[in-house]
Amino acid sequence: MTIEKVGVLGCGLMGAGIAEVCAKAGFSTVVREVDEGLLEKGMQRIERSLSKAVDKGKLEAVQRDETMSRISGTTELESLADRDLVVEAIVESLQAKVETFAALDRIVQDGAIFASNTSSLTITQIAMATQRTDRFVGLHFFNPVPVMKLVEVVRTLMTSDETMQQCLDFVASLGKEGVSCRDNSGFIVNRLLVPYLLDAIRAVEEGVGSIEDIDKAMQLGCGYPMGPLTLLDFVGLDTTYYIANIMFEEYREKRFAPPPLLKQMVQAGRSGRKSGRGFYDYGE
Ligand code: CAA
Ligand code: NAD
Repeated sequence: MTIEKVGVLGCGLMGAGIAEVCAKAGFSTVVREVDEGLLEKGMQRIERSLSKAVDKGKLEAVQRDETMSRISGTTELESLADRDLVVEAIVESLQAKVETFAALDRIVQDGAIFASNTSSLTITQIAMATQRTDRFVGLHFFNPVPVMKLVEVVRTLMTSDETMQQCLDFVASLGKEGVSCRDNSGFIVNRLLVPYLLDAIRAVEEGVGSIEDIDKAMQLGCGYPMGPLTLLDFVGLDTTYYIANIMFEEYREKRFAPPPLLKQMVQAGRSGRKSGRGFYDYGE
């Protein structure tokens, strides 16, 4: 089947970006959130991102409007029934993903491909909640989705060659670069990135330097676009905490263990930029 109609589950940081790039590439896109309030917030996020591109002269106003007209929001899983591809970007919880895909499998047409944007769960354990394990992949986008060029395309032991090829072609049609990746917790990028980010938190705990100086050191010393603590705020400390727990559970290696400071910040509601406060204060 050719992919023409895309569904996106979740319209948070990642889901909004994924819906935006799919619609911008010309795909009919339906995005699903759990309630009207979150849906409204997510749609506004997409609109703001496109309008910013218009302000910067990167997009014509008419292209923004056409892109928005290709996106419809819903709170009903049933609205995804006719989709050719569904990309899931909900909270990083195995239970939530398994429950959602099991329900979706009964609703969406048989030939459709399912994909998870999980950061750290294995695709295999999510795919097993469905009857379409040969048509199930990981499509791991990066934050901010409209800017980052990479998508990891993750295959399990059950993914068919045809599904892999369709997904690599789909990624290319979004103007992104795909890399094929075997199914393992963290794929390629997070296997390398997550221990680095967690070590930066341990450096704060140990008083190696101030938050600002640790960030400045990695930016100016290594040419990284953001320091690690700024990047953690950007990714979301709640999401990072879930990821660390999942990767530690999988590998049982100290480098993946969530530092106590991360846990406390999440418990205190400091989830980073999206909550207005993390390692830095965003005054929102
Ligand atoms: N949406 C759309 N466009 C955006 C954007 C957003 N949220 N944020 C920035 N941009 C665009 C800007 O419009 C700008 O485009 P032009 O240069 O064409 O004008 C460009 O990106 C650069 O932006 P800025 O000049 O405002 O800011 P910057 O130079 O500091 O770059 C950044 C911002 C691209 C986010 C850069 O800091 C960066 O690359 N940071 C690292 C991001 C990263 O590592 N992401 C991966 C996170 S890990 C992950 O995603 C995996 C996981 O599972 C957790
Ligand atoms: P987020 O908290 O910003 O958004 C998640 C959204 O999903 C929320 O708005 C929530 O209401 C919604 N949701 C929860 N259950 C749902 C359901 N059953 N149906 C539809 N919507 C539902 O989180 P995020 O940062 O966008 O992360 C989403 C996924 O993407 C996670 O698996 C995460 O690990 C992964 N990811 C995150 C990043 C990042 O930098 N934040 C990067 C790559 C991948």
